[in-house]
Amino acid sequence: MNFQLTEEHLAVQAAAREFAQTELLPGVIERDEHQKFPAEQIKKMGELGFMGMMVDPKYNGGGMDTISYVLAMEEISKVDASASVVMSVNNSLVCWGIEKYGSEEQKQKYLTKLATGEIIGAFCLSEPEAGSDATSQRTTAEDKGDYYLLNGTKNWITNGSTASVYIVIAQTDVAKGHRGINALIVERGMEGFEIGPKENKLGIRGSDTHSLMFTDVKVPKENRIGEDGFGFKFAMSTLAGGRIGIASQALGIASGAYELAVKYSKERKAFGVEIAKHQAIQFKLADMATNIEAARLLCLQAAHDKDTHSDYGKSGAMAKLFASKVAMETTVEAVQVHGGYGFVKEYHVERLMRDAKITQIYEGTSEIQKIVISRELLK
Ligand code: CAA
Ligand code: FAD
Repeated sequence: MNFQLTEEHLAVQAAAREFAQTELLPGVIERDEHQKFPAEQIKKMGELGFMGMMVDPKYNGGGMDTISYVLAMEEISKVDASASVVMSVNNSLVCWGIEKYGSEEQKQKYLTKLATGEIIGAFCLSEPEAGSDATSQRTTAEDKGDYYLLNGTKNWITNGSTASVYIVIAQTDVAKGHRGINALIVERGMEGFEIGPKENKLGIRGSDTHSLMFTDVKVPKENRIGEDGFGFKFAMSTLAGGRIGIASQALGIASGAYELAVKYSKERKAFGVEIAKHQAIQFKLADMATNIEAARLLCLQAAHDKDTHSDYGKSGAMAKLFASKVAMETTVEAVQVHGGYGFVKEYHVERLMRDAKITQIYEGTSEIQKIVISRELLK
């Protein structure tokens, strides 16, 4: 496998790095502390093409490959994982899902605006009683002829209060089990659609996470994505690609923490020398760098599989499983390298450590990734 990056890949990576350093770094600590959504920054990310990177230019997208997306996600996540989850949901769950499976009308109406970041989207699968066990949908979409009557509650929805377009998974025919589930495009402001309070989170505190309540919301039939009963497969297929985005987010959190640890170890002196001269610190950095390189290769492998139309369910799950573990381990060690300074906000590593944890939970927990991987291995 040759992961020689092209000129275009390197340009995307450099643009994302520059944007992260100049636009995201200032204020990232404050946004985390006050749970402030990076609205201005997301708008600029849209203008720079980061919100619909892989979308066909005919729908206003960047027409880029998944490798470019991984590289950009890593750079943005090094600095601000709250901004990168907004980017990831919009790119790989909402834009990709509509472009791959939506009707031409849906693409014209929604995708053309989602791809530029003019509006952002949310992906609503999880419910209070259906997280990992995603087929146990309690939200119902009753078929009423020319519309669906939507009732139920979704929880933990990223971009919950900032999105304009919500892809909502709901059960139409219980007797058919997962084959009776549909994916519907719900617009913010539809009558009967309410947004619950913002969750007060451990990490990615700049992103907004909400419960959503639907009471007799009338969703026109033309807002269903794909054929009747395709909703669960839609969700699974979309999440397979989404996991590459979250794997790259985890990779970025790890590499951001590692870079800070290297820098600090050359500045801080203890026992008359820079702490980087102590072998215990050197070995930590060696372990971090090795794990990060392995995580990066898994992310690129999964992206390459997707770009070459090979099966990427297993490689994406492997990338997410491994990169999220590396993010957790690396950030804990980066705090350790910083000593007491690592425990306070100014040095960034404590935030990266808090942000890392979610990558082992959302878009399928690490246990769920192992289920996906082992089913592929044994089939
Ligand atoms: N593509 C298309 N179809 C797929 C698929 C895929 N990648 N994976 C499974 N399916 C299909 C199966 O073929 C099956 O259909 P048939 O019976 O017709 O063959 C159907 O889906 C059901 O599959 P399973 O029998 O494997 O279902 P299961 O109940 O055993 O569950 C699971 C499988 C992998 C555990 C799944 O429930 C799952 O992924 N759970 C985790 C949910 C999750 O990731 N949630 C994330 C929410 S979004 C989010 O978190 C966003 C964010 O934070 C930012
Ligand atoms: P549970 O499914 O109850 O799991 C609890 C524990 O049991 C976990 O450790 C799990 O791995 C384990 N477990 C469960 N089943 C098994 C099994 N069969 N074998 C082994 N172990 C198992 N969802 C959306 O739809 N859209 C979003 O935008 C979104 N954003 C999120 C943002 C945040 C900040 C958070 C916290 C969550 C978000 N989620 C979103 C929800 C997320 O996808 C779920 O939290 C996740 O899928 C786990 O579901 P759960 O929380 O119900 O945990």
